[in-house]
Amino acid sequence: MEKISVKAARQATAIGHNVLVQGWIRTRRDSKGGFSFLEVNDGSCLANLQIVAEGSLPNYESEVKHLVAGCSVAIEGEVKASGGKGQVTEVLAKSLKVLGMADPETYPLQKKQHSLEKLREWAHLRPRTNTFGAVTRVRNCVSRSIHNFFQEDGFLYIHTPIITASDCEGAGAMFRVTTLDLPKLAAAGPPVKNELDFFGKPAYLTVSGQLEGEIFACSLGKIYTFGPTFRAENSNTSRHLSEFWMVEPEMAFYELTDNMDLAERFLKRIFKDALEQCPEDMAFFNEHYDKTTLETLQKIIATDFRRLPYTEAVEILEKSGEKFEFPVKWGIDLQSEHERYLTEKHFQVPVILYDYPRTLKPFYMRANDDNKTVRAMDVLVPKVGEIIGGSQREERLDVLTQRMQDQHLKPEDYWWYLDLRRFGTVPHAGFGLGLERAVQFLTGMANIRDVIPFPRTPGSAEF
Ligand code: 4AD
Ligand code: MG
Repeated sequence: MEKISVKAARQATAIGHNVLVQGWIRTRRDSKGGFSFLEVNDGSCLANLQIVAEGSLPNYESEVKHLVAGCSVAIEGEVKASGGKGQVTEVLAKSLKVLGMADPETYPLQKKQHSLEKLREWAHLRPRTNTFGAVTRVRNCVSRSIHNFFQEDGFLYIHTPIITASDCEGAGAMFRVTTLDLPKLAAAGPPVKNELDFFGKPAYLTVSGQLEGEIFACSLGKIYTFGPTFRAENSNTSRHLSEFWMVEPEMAFYELTDNMDLAERFLKRIFKDALEQCPEDMAFFNEHYDKTTLETLQKIIATDFRRLPYTEAVEILEKSGEKFEFPVKWGIDLQSEHERYLTEKHFQVPVILYDYPRTLKPFYMRANDDNKTVRAMDVLVPKVGEIIGGSQREERLDVLTQRMQDQHLKPEDYWWYLDLRRFGTVPHAGFGLGLERAVQFLTGMANIRDVIPFPRTPGSAEF
């Protein structure tokens, strides 16, 4: 007896094998001939395995005929060729063991379609639906692809800290990590004695592993970090999470153009892998969520991304004749509506915008000679907008120190970061890809909360 997955049992090569299959019932259909068809899924693939349960099974009347969606079962039987539509195999059950029943009166996932909003309330059960099974497999594929891409290219995987004392993006949107007794503090009144806190000073959850990533790039060449990042911004949009996963490569001896080349090659590789390795799931998204998904991806893989300075993008937007909610002029932070106009309507390909106004961007981005812009780059894709943010880093000690002061950061707090510029400084660059934005783009899911197992957003941290 061979224990196999639904995916394996659905292959023609399994025919004739005696197997053990374990999973959850999706549907049961009783035939007039006194036997039943069961559809079983175990998450190994989108499609179900058809089980034929004959009336001669000893527990046919007592158990099999009570099976409903959500029950867990273990079936031993022989894989046979199937005459049915949509499958080449089925399993003729020799025995069927019920592991757990599911009361149809209270089990939330009944046959009828539930809204994605409703399913978010059942994040502990939604992985059992077709949509979340498919999202989970695509997300896994992207994660593997990320590691493969960098590993094959000689990058070292670095684990940067999750607890940190420095604000990489300088935006102040950090969650504080503390062991101080808050009610006691409140009772004692100000000032807060930070020196009594666990680390002897204020500490936070990281918004980005970049600064620590730069340390390793400036010693070992090409590195990447891939882990959870946290942002305490009150953004209740379909593209923001308070906890999300980010992959951040950082490369010594790279300038902005090298950075763009890498980002483009990297995204194309991830998209190509998803199409090749998850064809069934990708076809599902194309059919049920966005009919343009496959076509758009194939086109993107085959075409060059459009590269364009921020200044030119603003000119295009100004001349577009579009009615934007946020009016456009040089110096504004581009909103999602502007980004989407550029990539969806104007160019109809992914766009890499670069050389942004320095007032919009963090201290670490390399200043251009025009005294106005920095060597930033954002990659914009249709539907999602910004998917990657990155830059060439400021490697000149004096300019970097000045930029910190301009942004009211204390250079002494970043002494180790400045040391990288003091001792053997080199040009270097890097970027960050939001994993969820990538999965959102690939699957066509409209809301980012539906591409992470357990979304954390303002006011919501269930499960
Ligand atoms: O543009 P961001 O803020 O860049 C950085 O953090 C740099 N330190 C990265 C680097 O250069 N190493 O974030 C990078 C990407 C965004 O383009 C977006 O895809 C994603 O992270 N992202 C978010 N995803 C979900 N929810 C949020 N709140 C996000 N904020 C950023
Ligand atoms: Mg950004």
